[in-house]
Amino acid sequence: MPSLPEKPLSNVPLQLHQPKNFQFDSVPESHAWRDLHDHPTVDPIGPDTVPLIDLTDPKLTAKISKACEEWGVFQITGHGVQPDLLTRLEAQIHRLFALSADRKLKTAKSPGDVSGYGLVPISSFFSKLMWSAGFTISGSPLHHAQKLWLDDYSSFCDVVEEFDNVMRQLGNKLLHKILLSLGLSKEDIIRACPVRDWHDMSAAVQLNSYPPCPDPDRTIGLAAHTDSSFLTLLYQNSVSGLQILRSKDHTGPMRWVTVPPVPNTFTVNIGDLMHVLSNVRFRSVMHRAMVNPAKHRISVGFFCGPPMDVKVGPINKLTGPERGPVYRPVTWQEYQRLRRKLFDKALEAIKIGEEIA
Ligand code: OGA
Ligand code: NI
Repeated sequence: MPSLPEKPLSNVPLQLHQPKNFQFDSVPESHAWRDLHDHPTVDPIGPDTVPLIDLTDPKLTAKISKACEEWGVFQITGHGVQPDLLTRLEAQIHRLFALSADRKLKTAKSPGDVSGYGLVPISSFFSKLMWSAGFTISGSPLHHAQKLWLDDYSSFCDVVEEFDNVMRQLGNKLLHKILLSLGLSKEDIIRACPVRDWHDMSAAVQLNSYPPCPDPDRTIGLAAHTDSSFLTLLYQNSVSGLQILRSKDHTGPMRWVTVPPVPNTFTVNIGDLMHVLSNVRFRSVMHRAMVNPAKHRISVGFFCGPPMDVKVGPINKLTGPERGPVYRPVTWQEYQRLRRKLFDKALEAIKIGEEIA
């Protein structure tokens, strides 16, 4: 993990934080990171290959269970999302990030805003800037799209809304499969799952742009973090960059494993709220994004969580005499507030017996 800053970015005036269009010949001091090589990086081969799971596999539940226990992440095929939708979404994302910095800044997030253009929320914990720009969509994108494009804004909104709809259904299906893979029955899930159907799910879409970088070993696209969601589905274009932190095991020491882009797949990772719901059986996974010397990388994160007003705690059936409930129940909103304050200490803060916030 990169060290915490001496001077958090939240003390710097807003306009100075906003990403420009990355036209640098070398990595400026503002974007030069130390501590990036805290653990070795390994190629995705042999036992360091993130599991690839076909959602139509008859042994799906067992495969998901193994992947969540050993990795906290897997890639999926057989998900039913049309490649054409992903192609159209990708085109709109390129169109957005190709706009002038001034135009994009018309939708800049102010502190406390969820939606809009700007730095990812974890930026405020670091003294260095990341080599990326982001655009977050929570709710309808219409208001922002009208500021980005004075005329043709509906093609962006239509694709984002279509994607949101399809991904909510896929996210809900995966959530239920993950709960089945924890050994719960369908009846247990009806009783305990905070999301009744896909209309209920809270979700946010994060568009990420990682411009090519002249010296990619000196900077980072997105610093190491876990997601606060139940689960995140990530789509990446054909440029690699996503890395997962794998724990020390019989095959090697703690290491960063690259998740290669496989066409028409999503990468599914366990977030902090699933870590809570599963009472620590499925751990949220630390991940980060590196940048490429020649190619523009884009990714889309789809974060799935409970309805905003529903408290999530360890499912009763998953607690027992050897392991009582490890965390107290929280809403997603409350947990996000803790993350903004405490970043990687937020989970500890809701540990029963160790509440510090
Ligand atoms: C995220 C994330 C990784 C990537 O948006 O939370 O982890 O590869 N993105 O862009
Ligand atoms: Ni993430």
